[in-house]
Amino acid sequence: MLRKFINAKLEDKHREILKLIKEQRTRLIISMVCMVLVAASKAASAYLVKPVVDEIFINKDELMLSILPVALILIFFFQCFGLYGREYLLNYVGRHIIMQLRNQLYVRIQDLPVAFFQKEKTGTLMSRVTNDVNLVKDMVSSVVTGVFEYTFEIIFFLIVILIMDWQLALLTLVILPVAFFPVFTLGRKVRRLSSRNQENMAEITTFLHETFAGNKIVKAFSMEDYERRRFFLKTRRLFEIDLKAFKYKALNSPIMEFLGGVGVAMVVWFGGYKVINGLSTPGTFFAFMAAMVSFYGPVKKLSKLNNKIQEGLAGTDRIFYILETESEIKEIDEAAEIPHQPHRVVFENVKFKYNDNYILEGINIDVNPNEILALVGMSGGGKTSLVNLIPRFYDVSDGRICIDGVDIRDVTLRSLRDQIAIVTQEPILFNDTVRNNIAYGNQGATEAEIIQAAEAAFACEFIEGFPQGFNTNIGELGSRLSGGEKQRLCIARALLKNAPILILDEATSSLDTTAENLVQKALDNLMKDRTTFVIAHRLSTISYADRIIVLKNGRIVEEGGHEELLNLQGEYHKLYEMQFNNATPS
Ligand SMILES: Nc1ncnc2c1ncn2[C@@H]1O[C@H](COP(=O)(O)OP(=O)(O)O)[C@@H](O)[C@H]1O
Ligand SMILES: [Mg+2]
Repeated sequence: MLRKFINAKLEDKHREILKLIKEQRTRLIISMVCMVLVAASKAASAYLVKPVVDEIFINKDELMLSILPVALILIFFFQCFGLYGREYLLNYVGRHIIMQLRNQLYVRIQDLPVAFFQKEKTGTLMSRVTNDVNLVKDMVSSVVTGVFEYTFEIIFFLIVILIMDWQLALLTLVILPVAFFPVFTLGRKVRRLSSRNQENMAEITTFLHETFAGNKIVKAFSMEDYERRRFFLKTRRLFEIDLKAFKYKALNSPIMEFLGGVGVAMVVWFGGYKVINGLSTPGTFFAFMAAMVSFYGPVKKLSKLNNKIQEGLAGTDRIFYILETESEIKEIDEAAEIPHQPHRVVFENVKFKYNDNYILEGINIDVNPNEILALVGMSGGGKTSLVNLIPRFYDVSDGRICIDGVDIRDVTLRSLRDQIAIVTQEPILFNDTVRNNIAYGNQGATEAEIIQAAEAAFACEFIEGFPQGFNTNIGELGSRLSGGEKQRLCIARALLKNAPILILDEATSSLDTTAENLVQKALDNLMKDRTTFVIAHRLSTISYADRIIVLKNGRIVEEGGHEELLNLQGEYHKLYEMQFNNATPS
């Protein structure tokens, strides 16, 4: 019945998990042998009740008095041996599957396009890899124990009760189907609630992530009360759903207990009647009782198992939603490799939209090798969106982008991205040593190269001030690193990558003038001999650009040199005036 139930629920995604289970075949087979051992010894000990009562208590057989206790000890020894083996092996399998699922998820999530990460909350994704995977493990170990161990036990006990008294046995079996009906109805409710429960868990993870990371802002705006209330609301909701699910789960036991009681009552009535009338022995009766009570045990556990399966299936759904998400950024089958050399980058009639409305339209740009192109314009004009198209963080909606005449969709993502170094406004470093952060993307770099990059980025001075210099962990420094210092580490990282195409997206915008001067010097070093796209907020920082493009509402409105654009008295002039006025103390 259970097997049929599971098969009915088997979809493609569950087959993937089945594959993971199958890889553990040997361990599972040995654990099954253990299960048979456990079930057989349990049934044997129930069976022994008959000779104990009939031979020792009624016939007062002295030989049996010495044989039976020894037999019991042996039986229990095998049972415990089997229990340990089963426990260990099943847990090994379950935990191994968790590890593999986590790894698969991580690899999958990592490969998903930037757009996916903008849609899904970090906390939700984290919850998938941590919480949901656990539910699947619980399901797998429960299903395996359930299907095999309980089935073995049920079979063995069934044999014992059939041997003892087949009529009585049939009588007790009538109850079973009645017992399973409510169990399955409740299981469906549990599954739905478990889904909501996990969604809530994910929301809480997201919430924690945000408010811990943004703790400074919470404090600065005195929003502790507000955040506390929001958190309490979420935990309250979790509590309520959890409790509701538990209410259904907990109903299983009483229902099964009650039906078990009815079974026992029937046996007492019918079995007692037979003993009184000399149709059966007390030994048979008690052995039957022992086997039947034990028989209800695994049946009862099977009913609980359904809850675990339902929860696990809900977890699988969420995990496979991620595993099955297709990346929109695809490589063609015979993608070419871009060689490492100076590149010409051309945008041809590029259009781009995130959702319904075009963010970029009619973009035609031709950047020569080693040319520096500056992109300016009001915030929201589409500058970041435009440069994000080059490493294919997003794909163009129309038109194409070519590197040395080859559409970037026809080359491997790896070789494309190998050509590009990016420094963004938000300096992103990882919890690793300064050295590894700089060598990120160029793992084979020598010590001398790393130091050289740090020097060119004007970062050596402050790095040497750290407790362990280049071996200092970024995480340990915490907020000791200023924005300018972080930015210079990012520049050192980009320098070491030594990519022919460079993208600077407001790399200095968040810095003060002193820090900016240093970072700017570092950037000058970085831009040498590269095809550079530089987005700058302060127009003063792009005076060195070979060409300037003014972007407004997703369109190129002006193009030319600094002086030339100023003389146009148009958009660029307006931007320039605005900054000039802002810079004047009022
Ligand atoms: N991930 C996104 N999803 C939807 N719209 C976006 C996304 N990122 C940016 N936009 C929109 O695209 C437009 C251009 O943004 P952006 O390229 O960041 O401009 P800029 O860098 O010039 O300030 C803005 O209207 C912005 O709201
Ligand atoms: Mg931007």
